[in-house]
Amino acid sequence: MKRRILMGTAIAFGIVATVASAQDLPPLQQKDTYTVGFPQMESNNPWRIAETQSFVDTAETCGWNLITTDAAGSAAKQVADVDSMIAQGIDVLFLPPREEKPLLPAVFRARAAGIPTFLVDRSVDPEVAQAGVDYVAFLGSDFVEQGRRAAEWTVANFDGEAGIIVELEGTTGSSPANDRRQGFDDFIAQHDNMTIVASQAGDFARDKGRQVMETLLQAHPDVNIVYAHNDEMAIGAIQALELVGRVPGEDVLVISIDGTRDALQAIIDGKMGVSVESSPFFGPLACDVMTRYAAGEEIEPWVKVEDRVFTIENAAEHIDAAY
Ligand code: AHR
Repeated sequence: MKRRILMGTAIAFGIVATVASAQDLPPLQQKDTYTVGFPQMESNNPWRIAETQSFVDTAETCGWNLITTDAAGSAAKQVADVDSMIAQGIDVLFLPPREEKPLLPAVFRARAAGIPTFLVDRSVDPEVAQAGVDYVAFLGSDFVEQGRRAAEWTVANFDGEAGIIVELEGTTGSSPANDRRQGFDDFIAQHDNMTIVASQAGDFARDKGRQVMETLLQAHPDVNIVYAHNDEMAIGAIQALELVGRVPGEDVLVISIDGTRDALQAIIDGKMGVSVESSPFFGPLACDVMTRYAAGEEIEPWVKVEDRVFTIENAAEHIDAAY
């Protein structure tokens, strides 16, 4: 990972501030209650709703006066929401940045305002902003690893001669879309019997996933593997496949990431092969990390979330706890 030239980048993003070093991240006093900002990026899928709920459920036990907003799928609105939280004097910011680059100014402005900031579930451009310098830490999964595990399962379970793969990508410019693609594509590239014939963004949304799949099916009617960067797009793809008489789970392998209730049901129904977990339940972890930080502990730059893999072997066991 490259390191940025600190002052140059801050000026480029319109921030007039002395840029910090790792030793002088904004401190956090130990208090009974904290005003905490959680600017959610959108609420159009179960994953996002579960994540926001996890913060709401944690608020009382962690002493948070929680301010949440919904940017409705707009990175610009999410930046404005952070600005508004800074103006309201929040003590701590937990930010899930919708896209890697557009949210950089929000990170820098929170930093300049002396607000300890933790990136949650997604990250910003690592070549421009770093944990331990511009923000305290990143709390989240290893998205590259998730993509690689999805690819490993695909290679191990595909029983045809040649895999013809369509990939439905998440939001363009977001860290999970970039990393899940890299992890999957790199592993698939090592297998001569597998070809990714098309890769297109479906914005992590069910409807968009269905529409993109409908279009791609016209160009690639012989597809026999669909890899979606999240469950919502995978469910949309299943709908598109069924519309043209394909049988997901029989003549098309559907592979995905998240572990939502609908995905686990699709696995139980035999329509989806695997969903690599990406947990949205960040509230308790955020509380723990914030409490450690306020106590003066040094926080690891990446507080890594370990993920499980859901298949026909264990989907029924986990569906009641799913969201
Ligand atoms: O950042 C995590 C991803 O964002 C989840 O996989 C997706 O469902 C959500 O919108």
